[in-house]
Amino acid sequence: MSSTIKELGEKSMRRDWIGHLCQASAISALYCALLPFSVSATPSGGDIFKNNCAACHASGGNIVDPKKPLKGSKKLANKEMFKDLLSKPAGAMPAFPKIVEDDPSLSALYDYCKSLK
Ligand code: HEC
Repeated sequence: MSSTIKELGEKSMRRDWIGHLCQASAISALYCALLPFSVSATPSGGDIFKNNCAACHASGGNIVDPKKPLKGSKKLANKEMFKDLLSKPAGAMPAFPKIVEDDPSLSALYDYCKSLK
């Protein structure tokens, strides 16, 4: 009697284990399927600029405050300063927390801004 109970227990444990294995491989299969998508989904610096900055900084200028153009700005001296500016901007410029939190986007945008001349 006791051995039957033990056997039953073992069987259900094995079923649980197989269940977990299936779940784990389903998750990793999903992850693998999504991975190439998320890699190629990182937008280019030019796209990020067009969508977030160009309204005020068309062609690297500044239509709100023409004395403070983006191109050649000291705030582009290094990525840390650029990150600071987008986190806590001065004057009428809005903050861009989503770009700041996503390092690949921040780098792509930074490189693009540096390339404006
Ligand atoms: C709503 C308009 C607006 C948007 C959108 C905007 N900016 Fe600005 N930006 C400004 C204004 C106004 C200033 C000047 C702030 C000040 O008074 O110092 C500025 C200043 C800057 C400067 C520093 C210029 C300098 O040397 O004084 C940089 C660099 C910059 N912006 C980059 C960006 C980037 C990159 C984006 C997009 C992620 C962006 N801005 C989006 C309005 C904007």
